[in-house]
Amino acid sequence: MDVAGKKALVLGGTSGIGLAAARQLQARGARVMVMSRSADNLAEARRVLGDGADIRQLDVLDRAAMTATFAALAPYDILVNAATGGERATGPFLKMDLDGFQGSFRKLWGYVNTVRLGAEHLTQNGCIVLVSGSPARKCQPGMAAISTVGNAVEGFARAVAPELAPRRINVVSPGVIDTPMFPVQGEARAQFLAAATANTLLKRAGTADEVAAGILFAIENDFVTGSTIDVDGGALLP
Ligand SMILES: NC(=O)c1ccc[n+]([C@@H]2O[C@H](COP(=O)([O-])OP(=O)(O)OC[C@H]3O[C@@H](n4cnc5c(N)ncnc54)[C@H](OP(=O)(O)O)[C@@H]3O)[C@@H](O)[C@H]2O)c1
Repeated sequence: MDVAGKKALVLGGTSGIGLAAARQLQARGARVMVMSRSADNLAEARRVLGDGADIRQLDVLDRAAMTATFAALAPYDILVNAATGGERATGPFLKMDLDGFQGSFRKLWGYVNTVRLGAEHLTQNGCIVLVSGSPARKCQPGMAAISTVGNAVEGFARAVAPELAPRRINVVSPGVIDTPMFPVQGEARAQFLAAATANTLLKRAGTADEVAAGILFAIENDFVTGSTIDVDGGALLP
């Protein structure tokens, strides 16, 4: 797909990976529309993307608002959802608060809402990209909720790919990426990212732009569907 002139919706496109994907799409000439909930992130997206972008407040868990937004923006060619959904429960599963575990599935429900409510307005050669994460297939102590949700995202995309064809759907799976998803600041941040990537092959956190390049690959390559593309610095090995 040549994205120039195409209409691209990026849900969760106001921070981190989603914002980087929106910026890369815009740089290639796509008409970009980004959405999320918070005024601060919407303002940051306006600063980064400028007046050329359509920036709207939207919660991917609000199905009525999603339905109305998709109908208002239809038809479109590219649908990316990089939203975290809002909650990430970590820590030992056997001591985990089950509401926290369930809350982590907001990410999945946001993605399910996006495909169920958004696909009908996607052009016939259009495509969808969702975001999972290396814990889906690299299970480590304390990551049970994140791992389970990531698996669900990847399985969901494969499950719906046959019904969506010839429209395409793919997942990009990041490793540890230096984005605002991790709120820790200053020297503690560098230590956190170093510790989190010590057991990966490249021993550093990735950038939002590196993951966005994976999203652009999934969009631009017309022969890729039902796939998960790892952009994780070798997190799954050894
Ligand atoms: N960073 C990493 O190391 C890493 C690793 C593996 C996977 N991932 C995945 O990569 C994706 C992007 O993460 P990121 O690192 O770019 O995080 P981020 O910088 O925190 O950005 C998350 C984006 O999602 C939006 N969002 C969250 N809940 C939303 C909701 N209910 N409705 C609409 N928008 C919502 C946020 O905006 P508002 O708060 O304004 O709504 C923000 O724009 C997520 O799926 C995350 O799980 C990240």
